[in-house]
Amino acid sequence: MRFISTPLLTLLAILVDLAVPVYGSPGGIPAIKRKDGGSSSNGIPTVDNFKNPQCKPWYGIRDDIMRNIYRGRCNDLARAAVRLAFHDAGPYSNALKAAGKTNGAADGSLLVSAAEQSRPENNGLQNITAALKDLPQKYNVSPGDVLHLAGTLAVLACPGGPVINTYIGRKAPAANYIAPDGLLPNPNSPVPVLLNRFADMGFSTRELMALMGAHSTAKQRFVDTTRANQPMDSTVEIWDVRYYSEMQSPTAAPGTYRLNSDVNFAHNTTTQQDFNRFVGKQNDWGREYAAAHEKMSLLGLDKNTLTDCTEIMPQSIDLSTVTTTSNSGKQPTDPTVDPAKLEAAIQKYRSIWV
Ligand code: HEM
Ligand SMILES: *[C@@H]1O[C@H](CO)[C@@H](O)[C@H](O)[C@H]1NC(C)=O
Ligand SMILES: *[C@@H]1O[C@H](CO)[C@@H](O)[C@H](O)[C@H]1NC(C)=O
Repeated sequence: MRFISTPLLTLLAILVDLAVPVYGSPGGIPAIKRKDGGSSSNGIPTVDNFKNPQCKPWYGIRDDIMRNIYRGRCNDLARAAVRLAFHDAGPYSNALKAAGKTNGAADGSLLVSAAEQSRPENNGLQNITAALKDLPQKYNVSPGDVLHLAGTLAVLACPGGPVINTYIGRKAPAANYIAPDGLLPNPNSPVPVLLNRFADMGFSTRELMALMGAHSTAKQRFVDTTRANQPMDSTVEIWDVRYYSEMQSPTAAPGTYRLNSDVNFAHNTTTQQDFNRFVGKQNDWGREYAAAHEKMSLLGLDKNTLTDCTEIMPQSIDLSTVTTTSNSGKQPTDPTVDPAKLEAAIQKYRSIWV
């Protein structure tokens, strides 16, 4: 390369930067054959019934993620994908934007930037990034679209999780782009610090309290390594509101690990009302979580430049149909799920993938 002049190299570098890949002609991998022959009765839309042609390729990508990564279940990769969506978008800052500085966005940079991946707060996301990282190239789509579809699908893979509006059309992050550092929350920060950080992302207290319920299907590994893999609530396999009542309780449920920030949100006078609104309110939470997660998946992006592909999303599993008889028909604070009914619902609904 020594014979190439410096100005020419600069020009080359500019051209590489400008070469935004053209997406939308995914690599010809067909949607998987459904074991049920394509009937839509189990709530999973088929590509044959696509509405928007731009969404057509995404049915197969959906199936790839649901089958090969989540195995149709709320597994550890699904939990990690929800966290990944947050950690990709979380470095967004209105203050940085106003100052014209390098900003974060829901752009998939966490799927491509080794520098971001190696930050301590992203520890534990290695398995999910490894599982997703080849998909953009395999389907000729952007990392941000893959990462944020993986996030909204992961919520559905966890029984009880709501359908979240899902968009495609994000551009790839510029070469060597790294999201700004130090903007993801620390569980030992005081409530006002956390509220300010999320306000700078554009979230109200009420929206943040809805988002926090994602810890309903979360485990901790690095906050207390002597208790690695302990879940944050006692029903880690389902997307339910038990998290909200268990953070209120004077003591942690047996076998669970509560983050200081979560317990503080349940008790601080500024946040407790919005937090405790969701106790026993699965449907309210589902609706508000879905809206807040959608907003999170669009941070730093212009929604008008994206395409709504919610048409590909599977239906949500309604937890009220899998509770024990003693609870059905009532409005218990925390419905008790019947493991056999839950398993039957998962089998029926997920049978096209597993
Ligand atoms: C105050 C804000 C937040 C704090 C301080 C926080 C902190 C944490 C911490 C410390 C962990 C455990 C990491 C480990 O040791 O492995 C964790 C896990 C997790 N967080 Fe958060 N988080 C916050 C907000 C959120 C939001 C907004 C979401 C998504 C909407 C989210 C989703 C998750 C998920 C799904 C996990 C579990 C990951 C897994 O099991 O692999 N968190 N969070
Ligand atoms: C990642 O996968 C390895 C191998 O399956 C497993 O031992 C490890 O616990 C996983 N890490 C996380 C954070 O889930
Ligand atoms: C609760 O949060 C508010 C607002 O962020 C803050 O001013 C207050 O000091 C917090 N209270 C406690 C006890 O931490």
